Amino acid sequence: MKGLILAGGRGTRLYPVTRAVSKHLLPVYDKPMIYYPLSALMLAGIREILVISTPEDLPQYSRMLGDGAQWGLQLSYREQATPRGVADALLIGESFIAGEPCALVLGDNLFYGTGLGEMLRRAAALQRGAMIFAYPVRDPERYGIVELGAADDRGHRRVLSLEEKPVSPRSNLAVPGMYFYDRQACELARSLVPGPRGELEITDLNQLYLDRSQLHVEVFGRGTAWLDAGTHSSLLAAANFVHAVQDRQGLMICCPEEIAWRMGFINDAQLARLAAELAAEYGEYLRHLLHP
Ligand code: G1P
Repeated sequence: MKGLILAGGRGTRLYPVTRAVSKHLLPVYDKPMIYYPLSALMLAGIREILVISTPEDLPQYSRMLGDGAQWGLQLSYREQATPRGVADALLIGESFIAGEPCALVLGDNLFYGTGLGEMLRRAAALQRGAMIFAYPVRDPERYGIVELGAADDRGHRRVLSLEEKPVSPRSNLAVPGMYFYDRQACELARSLVPGPRGELEITDLNQLYLDRSQLHVEVFGRGTAWLDAGTHSSLLAAANFVHAVQDRQGLMICCPEEIAWRMGFINDAQLARLAAELAAEYGEYLRHLLHP
C-alpha cells in the first residue's frame, strides 16, 4: 500500500504565524507537525510515501525529511499548485499510487492510542472498498460527519449518511483525516466536482464508496486520541497533550526514528547513527532505546 500526506494549503487559520512558515513544519511540542501523520502511516506499515505541499513550501519538506532512507522509507514529493481540496491529493498522486491501494493522511492530524497500530495495519491490509474512521467530538460542524445505524448482532453499524461540515450535524461522529482506499480511488476521484467551498471534497469520494456499499467505518474508542492542529487553540492543545503524556511516561508520541526501529525498518546501528546526529534530549531518548 502507498501512503500520501497532504501538507498543502496556506494555513490561513494560523495567520500571522503561517505567513512565512508552512503550517506542517510548526512544532507540536518537540516535533514538526508532519512527523505525527507520517508516524501514523509508518505504524500502518507503509513505507512508500508521497508528500504533497505547495510549490513554495515543498523544498523545505524535502530538506527536513530527505529521501526517507534514514528511517527505512522511500519518500517522494509533489506540488499542489493551488489548494484544490483534500481529494485532489489522489489526482496529484495518481502516477505515484500506480493502481495500488493507498492511504491518505492530512498533515495536521495526530493519532495516538492503545491498539492504534494494529487497527492501522488491519486497515492497510484492505483490498476492496474504503476504510474511514469515526471519532466523537464536541464541535461536529467543523468536520466531515458520519451517521451510523444501530449495531447488528455482529457489532457492525451501517453507515447511514456522510456530510461535510453540516450546519446541523446528524451525529457527533467526525471523520478524521486518515483514509484507506482500494485501487478504485484515483478513478473515482477523477469524477468529483468542486463542492460549495470550491474544493474537491474527500467526503464526496467517500460518498461514492458508500453508494457502492463499499465504505467501512471503524469507530475509535475513548482510548484513542485524535487531535488536529490547524488552529491556534487546537495546535496549543495538541502540544500540551504531547507534553503531558511524554513528560509523565518518558515515552515519545510519534517519534519516527523509534517507530522505524520498532517496525524493523532500521536496525540498531542505524538508530545509533540517528541518535548521534540529534543532540539534546531527542537524541538522548533514542540512545536510551538502545541502552535502557
Ligand atoms: C478535512 C475534511 C473533513 C475532515 C477533516 C479532518 O477538513 O474535509 O471531512 O473531517 O479534514 O481534519 P478541512 O481540514 O479541509 O477543513
